[in-house]
Amino acid sequence: MNRHIAIDGPASSGKSTIAKIVAKRRGLIYVDTGAMYRAMAIHFLKLGLSADDEAGITEAVKTADVTIDYIDGQQQVILNGENVTPYLRQEATGNMASASSVYAAVRSKMTALQQKLAAEKTVVMDGRDIGTVVLPDAFLKVFMTASAEVRAERRFNELKAKGEDPDFETLKAEIIERDWRDSHREIAPLKQADDAFLLDTSDMSIDMVAGYVMGLYDERARRAGDGE
Ligand code: DC
Repeated sequence: MNRHIAIDGPASSGKSTIAKIVAKRRGLIYVDTGAMYRAMAIHFLKLGLSADDEAGITEAVKTADVTIDYIDGQQQVILNGENVTPYLRQEATGNMASASSVYAAVRSKMTALQQKLAAEKTVVMDGRDIGTVVLPDAFLKVFMTASAEVRAERRFNELKAKGEDPDFETLKAEIIERDWRDSHREIAPLKQADDAFLLDTSDMSIDMVAGYVMGLYDERARRAGDGE
């Protein structure tokens, strides 16, 4: 029986920070599915495609080979043989990832790859459609959210720490736009699964959220009679 954890939620809700901590403390493999959509986005940007060119993107999906590797436990995303991990977090990449992830060709390729990973290892997977589409039978599902203000603030501080000089209002507007697009697309929209725990992290510290998720996981394991 799988013991996968699915964590979904909007941009900058803290999913990946929490997923990484929980994976490490419970000995599971962390899979950042957003990074996979971002790698595909880099492929489209390199080809000079525009986000509204569905035919071009559908064709380009065929020439994108996205794979996952781990170096010192850190996920690396390889696009056509090149490790593109250092370029994934740029704002242009995130916006292209959100815009291109509405297309069926992109989603079906990514979903198949993510399901293959979960068939091989027990994972903590984060994204938008993990509990609803990719791992509908996950052992534990969490839907993590926070107010747009708080999420923009987190992103702002992250970029500042990297030495960048972001504009708060622009970041907030982009986050709101991305949420809207991610939750209104036709295929596999961002949505809380019926059996997911809703966690609003606006006023919670990282330790509190990680502790809460691990508590839920351990409780489930106990109730399942814990063989592992
Ligand atoms: O989590 P993130 O910000 O790295 O994700 C970037 C974009 O990729 C997100 O705006 C929408 C898309 N995405 C998706 O459609 N499905 C997922 N499971 C993960 C990400």
